[in-house]
Amino acid sequence: MAAFGKGRGSRFVLLLLGVVIAAMSKARNLKTRTGLWLAASLVVLLGAVGGASLVLRRGFSARDEPSAIEAAIARRVRHLAVPRGARDTPNPVALGPETVAEGRAHFADHCASCHGNDGRGQTPLGRNLYPKAPDMQLPATQSLSDGELFYIIHNGIRFTGMPAWGDGTAEDDIESWKLVHFIRHLPEISATEIEEMRTLNPITRAELEEEEEMRRFLEGGEAPSPPRGHDHDHGH
Ligand code: HEC
Repeated sequence: MAAFGKGRGSRFVLLLLGVVIAAMSKARNLKTRTGLWLAASLVVLLGAVGGASLVLRRGFSARDEPSAIEAAIARRVRHLAVPRGARDTPNPVALGPETVAEGRAHFADHCASCHGNDGRGQTPLGRNLYPKAPDMQLPATQSLSDGELFYIIHNGIRFTGMPAWGDGTAEDDIESWKLVHFIRHLPEISATEIEEMRTLNPITRAELEEEEEMRRFLEGGEAPSPPRGHDHDHGH
């Protein structure tokens, strides 16, 4: 397993460092301590060179999948980074069909480009970010507390594609809490809801142009040009 192969190297370096530090705390005389300092620096250097060579060999493409260990550590650190008070805050917005519908509309407009209307992250943007947009229907997301989901939406996740959305106003907070209700609803989302969300998704410039060409054609103009597919001209 690739995840293990990679993890083993870094665990070995950490273990080595642990042994050296333990020896250092026991060492009495100055000479041994200096020697051990040198050893510790050498181990750190070894780790850095190892890490760098890994990057050089594997590259730093956003297409890679973080290893299982990397992902688990990142989630754990994030969990610890959410202040307990925030984590335990209950959703102050009452749950009801209206609330979920408002959250759904908001999600279609602001979040679906990365997360997809169904929250599974299967969009061109969501799949190519590092780390990827997660499948929010799965327990990993659904088991987060309401407060934690709110905190993530409000503050974003540093070093990832997940932006912060909170502007600190009371109305904005309410919108985010509605999004939390909608995220909870994702595992039961229906085809009709997804269909409705499609009409609310922001459309791309290419799609707008296509619609415009079609409209002109229907009014008796030139036949629309065939779809150009994926071009990299972003209008610069
Ligand atoms: C530009 C892309 C992008 C947009 C737009 C975006 N997100 Fe995210 N979001 C991400 C990525 C990438 C992650 C995964 C980060 C990670 O793995 O740490 C994420 C993670 C999350 C998570 C944490 C899920 C979990 O299990 O870790 C929540 C909740 C979330 N987003 C909600 C939202 C909401 C609500 C919106 C809209 C208001 C939104 N996101 C808009 C990219 C985006």
